[in-house]
Amino acid sequence: MHPVEIKKDVFWVGAVDYTSRDFHGYSLSPQGTTYNTYLVKDEKTVLFDTVKSNFLDTMLCRMSNVTELEKVDYIVCNHLEPDHSGCLPKLVELCKPEKIFCSPLGKRSMQAHYDTEGWPIEVVKTGDSINIGSRDIQFIETRMLHWPDSMVSYIPQDKLLICNDIFGQNISTTERFVDEVDRAVVEHDMVEYYHNIVLPFSPLVLKTLDAIAEMGIEIDMLAPDHGLIFRGKEDVQWCFDKYREFAEQAWKKRAVIIFDTMWHSTEKMAYAVAEGFESEGVPVRIMHLKTDHHSAVMTELGRASAVVFGSPTHNNGILPEVAKMLTYMKGLRPQNRIGGAFGSFGWSGECVKSLSGSLVDMGFEMPVDGVKIQFVPTHDSFKKCYEMGVELAKALKEKCGD
Ligand code: FEO
Repeated sequence: MHPVEIKKDVFWVGAVDYTSRDFHGYSLSPQGTTYNTYLVKDEKTVLFDTVKSNFLDTMLCRMSNVTELEKVDYIVCNHLEPDHSGCLPKLVELCKPEKIFCSPLGKRSMQAHYDTEGWPIEVVKTGDSINIGSRDIQFIETRMLHWPDSMVSYIPQDKLLICNDIFGQNISTTERFVDEVDRAVVEHDMVEYYHNIVLPFSPLVLKTLDAIAEMGIEIDMLAPDHGLIFRGKEDVQWCFDKYREFAEQAWKKRAVIIFDTMWHSTEKMAYAVAEGFESEGVPVRIMHLKTDHHSAVMTELGRASAVVFGSPTHNNGILPEVAKMLTYMKGLRPQNRIGGAFGSFGWSGECVKSLSGSLVDMGFEMPVDGVKIQFVPTHDSFKKCYEMGVELAKALKEKCGD
């Protein structure tokens, strides 16, 4: 298990998780992920974060190719979620660090997760800095990016920002740098990660990007705790620009139709709605919740500003997969979307009302009445669905200034 020297005397000593598809217990990581850990050798040897506990041996093996474990002086915990802190108790035991640095809320998280009695915890806040020899480490709290305890660490002498969860991607590769991988793959994985993990905190992302710009700090390497490292000022700026674009959620001329179906009536309606979008030149993707995971739907939503839901009426409500999707989407707080609703019914017909209510609750604009049809769609029903697609497309194009 070899470390990778990412800057002089700065080593990646993390782990690549090729097979896990469950990310943080709620999201899908179709390409696996990585748990990045960095080790800096200076007068003090410093480890930044750890890995998920089942990768302890991998990390220790890489670390021991750089230093003896007992020579680790400091551990910096940028974030306490277990995919980054899971090996902390073992490392404290093996390394006996002189100090463990974390944010004020990091200390609380650490104490809640582990038996920290006797641990040399030292709390640092935004603006605090420590010297480790020829380098300084400056700390910047980034609350809610991703948990209240989150912070990032900046090493000015290396122009290196070790940024934990933000700017990450779920990707498992032997390559360590963004510039070694197809850019379209990286961008897709950034969209997927952002819209399943970071989206609710978009206002904080914008504040953080502004704060970094105002601080005037030079960054030529961005080292997240998941995925690939951005190397060089151009790639760092590319990443910042992408994050600003994701966070601003500007209107996009693209639609996604999300449905579940019982006897295919609602499915057929979905295709008719899509025809309406297509006729207006608005690209559209249809996603069936029995085959498309809720994380994949959120990734698609990252590219689409019209979001149309379809469900038949089931027990006076909607189908469970649709309800699950709506709950997941609501928590991720998408902004700047127009919505639409459709579905078939047998006798009571609450589907459209229920779907529309959920979309309004999320703050979606609903420019067109929903379409519900009894049992099996007829030619006239398809026409109504098609027309709904046309009207939604027109409303979206207006939003896009098209
Ligand atoms: Fe990758 Fe919030 O932990």
